Amino acid sequence: MQTIGILGAGKLGTVVARLAVAAGYRVLVAGSGDPARISLIVEVVTPGATAVTAAEAAAKSDIVILALPLGKYRTLPVAELRGKLVLDAMNYWWEVDGIRDDLRSSSAQVQAFLPESRVVKALNHMGYHDLDAGPRPAGAPDRKAIAIAGDDPVAVREAAAVVDTLGFDPVAVGGLADGVRLEPGTPIFGAVLSQEQMQGYAQSSPPRIVPS
Ligand SMILES: NC(=O)c1ccc[n+]([C@@H]2O[C@H](COP(=O)([O-])OP(=O)(O)OC[C@H]3O[C@@H](n4cnc5c(N)ncnc54)[C@H](OP(=O)(O)O)[C@@H]3O)[C@@H](O)[C@H]2O)c1
Repeated sequence: MQTIGILGAGKLGTVVARLAVAAGYRVLVAGSGDPARISLIVEVVTPGATAVTAAEAAAKSDIVILALPLGKYRTLPVAELRGKLVLDAMNYWWEVDGIRDDLRSSSAQVQAFLPESRVVKALNHMGYHDLDAGPRPAGAPDRKAIAIAGDDPVAVREAAAVVDTLGFDPVAVGGLADGVRLEPGTPIFGAVLSQEQMQGYAQSSPPRIVPS
């Protein structure tokens, strides 16, 4: 059984934890501090998952999902994430992070901060309610797509397998730099698309509109 560690026990992190437990993974969830602060939430909202520290979630997992505000990425446990497949679900979201010129390339920046981890952008563009309602078995006619972006083809393949196991059709849209095309300010952000629609989107290049 593989272990998924989720850094962030908020709206997205708890939904992804539920999906991961349902998909058969062992799941560790962390907030920013003492696990005692989130243990009740984890027990009630994500039964089957375990609350731990962020360092523990990173160290003890095969796959780590980043579900914390992007503005906090410099607090990530770099050493414990070394060598890990890291699915970056974070976005530059100016309503939370404020208007910041230093957060605009997102997953490429996260990869630069975690040089020895294998970062793939994934699970960032669909709202948590839609993710929660979305998982379907492979081949289901109403299965939804999750776009992924990464530079390392092996890591992208592994990330695609995780997305598929969670109940969504993975669609690769390019390298880490292309991940910004999945973020707030683009038509894809918040959209719930089929695999075919997502593949069509991947071939187009609509502009991203970000306030400055
Ligand atoms: N909400 C969505 O529908 C959605 C969908 C896709 C992607 N996203 C992205 O997912 C990320 C989280 O969004 P959210 O809406 O879930 O935010 P949220 O509800 O505010 O939750 C953020 C969580 O991150 C935790 N956190 C902060 N610093 C941390 C650290 N160093 N290590 C571990 N956990 C840490 C917070 O813990 P404390 O309370 O202890 O600070 C909190 O549990 C954002 O980047 C967002 O853009 C969100």
